[in-house]
Amino acid sequence: MRILVTGAAGFIGSTTSEMLLDDGYEVVALDNLSRGRRENVPVRATFVEGDCGDMELIASLGAFDACVHFAARIEPADSMVTPEVFFDNNVGATFRLLRALVENGTSKFVFSSSCAVYGDRVTIPIGEDHPTAPHSPYGLSKLMVEQGLAWFVSQGRIRAASLRYFNAAGGTLAHPERHHPENHLIPLTLAAAAGDRPQISIFGDDYPTVDGTCVRDYIHVSDLARAHVLAIAALDEHPLLTLNLGTGHGYSNRQIVDTVREVTGRDFTVVTTARRPGDPAAAVAANERAQELLGWSLERSDLATIISDAWDAYRVN
Ligand SMILES: NC(=O)c1ccc[n+]([C@@H]2O[C@H](COP(=O)([O-])OP(=O)(O)OC[C@H]3O[C@@H](n4cnc5c(N)ncnc54)[C@H](O)[C@@H]3O)[C@@H](O)[C@H]2O)c1
Repeated sequence: MRILVTGAAGFIGSTTSEMLLDDGYEVVALDNLSRGRRENVPVRATFVEGDCGDMELIASLGAFDACVHFAARIEPADSMVTPEVFFDNNVGATFRLLRALVENGTSKFVFSSSCAVYGDRVTIPIGEDHPTAPHSPYGLSKLMVEQGLAWFVSQGRIRAASLRYFNAAGGTLAHPERHHPENHLIPLTLAAAAGDRPQISIFGDDYPTVDGTCVRDYIHVSDLARAHVLAIAALDEHPLLTLNLGTGHGYSNRQIVDTVREVTGRDFTVVTTARRPGDPAAAVAANERAQELLGWSLERSDLATIISDAWDAYRVN
């Protein structure tokens, strides 16, 4: 099967491309390198440098059995400042991509959605039927694509899975977690442990959580990647899937910092600052639907494994 992976030079796209190749799929890896790195793209994939919204380029690539669409701007805080960039890149480009794919005869689309569609006033654990109320243009961009996809599916033009990730984490030696700019807690904390950053900041310690700091659901990128491979197959049976991808367990920022200290054996400075606007106190997934419909189970998503894999990947790279 021939798969188009957009955003394949990024963290989750590169890991998933690797897994698809291991499973015998042919991968065409597309990325405009606005954030990702060329060296992240697996050497076995065919790399195409370009924009996923470039319909002529997509048309020139020929027919695919499926597209796994990771390409997006991913920084919620930036989206509060320049929402138009997020609507253009994450929504406009996605629907141009979709049009070109449908015209080419591609029948399956797996979309990187986010728990950001639920917003900041949530009931834990968050199931897929929880009301959506994104609090950032980033989260809204994901919801807009989900809703548009449902129309394409209802018209019988494509089969689509919207996978709502909670916090992707961990990493593999070939594909460490590395964003530009980096604003994810685990890589920032590992950088502090390695002495590459002077300190790590925790935003707010007065939330109604176990220790006052925000709680998030961290899922290993390998488990996330596996869910995408399974989703491609599950679309044969289900024309439209909306699934949470998380572990069902939440860890506070302080628990992350403590586990990084334990796993690395290093100490570093932690500074507590004011809350960031729009950060929910907690975000933890109910993941039973994904387990049931994909036949998916978690293999590397206990916190110690996530952090130890991320540390190994950080040091090698
Ligand atoms: N990292 C997380 O915890 C998380 C959580 C929820 C959802 N997501 C979603 O998962 C996807 C992948 O996230 P990631 O952490 O790997 O991010 P990333 O920034 O590492 O990867 C995104 C890639 O997309 C590319 N890209 C962006 N716009 C493009 C365009 N118009 N055309 C072609 N390439 C483009 C970038 O160059 C980058 O390589 C994103 O859609 C993100 O919104 C991530």
